[in-house]
Amino acid sequence: MTGTEVGDAGFRHEALLDWFGARQRDLPWRRTRDPWAVLVSELMLQQTQVARVLPKYEAFLEQWPTASACAAAPLGDVVTAWAGLGYNRRAVNLHRGAQQVVADHGGVLPDDLDALLALPGIGPYTARAVLAFAFESDEVGVLDTNAARVLARWTGRSLKPKEARARADAAVAPAAGWAWNQAMLDLGATVCTPRAPRCDECPVAERCGWQQAGRPDPDPAIGSAGVSTGQSRFDGSDRQGRGRLVDALRVGPVAAADLAAVMGWPGDPERAERVAATVVADHLAVIGADEGYRLPS
Ligand code: ADE
Repeated sequence: MTGTEVGDAGFRHEALLDWFGARQRDLPWRRTRDPWAVLVSELMLQQTQVARVLPKYEAFLEQWPTASACAAAPLGDVVTAWAGLGYNRRAVNLHRGAQQVVADHGGVLPDDLDALLALPGIGPYTARAVLAFAFESDEVGVLDTNAARVLARWTGRSLKPKEARARADAAVAPAAGWAWNQAMLDLGATVCTPRAPRCDECPVAERCGWQQAGRPDPDPAIGSAGVSTGQSRFDGSDRQGRGRLVDALRVGPVAAADLAAVMGWPGDPERAERVAATVVADHLAVIGADEGYRLPS
């Protein structure tokens, strides 16, 4: 085995926690411990950059300050509020999750990993983020793509999912799970970046297996558990057409005859219909009696 064990006895958590204390980004979801607010922020942040999330997060919580409020809203309104964030299926998942929280937990998010994982739309990342950032659990490491990259480099080799989770959990600073996990996210987002990491600014470089080995190729983060491979090409993709359709539906219904043009494929109505069917299957749209498309109610 090569590299430093992040959870090694004697590992100085203080280096990272001190760095975080001095440099942390002031973000609105770091000023709350409300589990609903944390869930909203983490779902938004999963595939969208912080700068784009900021205004949407505040507006969303103003509109639906609780899971119960969101659960009672028409799904179409939640999809509308998701405008500008992309990956609209997250809005459907959030709405379904809110309804299940009302049905199973009286509107209060549970503080238990298995109960969180049982909710629709909440995967391992989101469940751990809610535990760490709302309930201040010291037991779970939060592995988004940034933290997963830090962990792999630190360990000095790529990790399989189970080992990555175990190491992330073991590494959490005692009695400081909230700050530790936020620090890992910030370190990955601002210093331990995918390309050209700024190791000279890294508070834990001397404990980093990859850095200590001279940063050999391949970068251990590549292909390691939880490290995303990047979003696929958007221009010309089905995803672009899906996004265009949902954007149009936010303004009003779309007649079947206009579908292909709205989706940006005026010469390919077959493709438009095929891709629109996936939007319907994902509950982002419904087809009316007039065969037109509209947001779900
Ligand atoms: N990305 C995912 N979760 C985050 C958080 N809590 N703060 C900043 N960026 C994040």
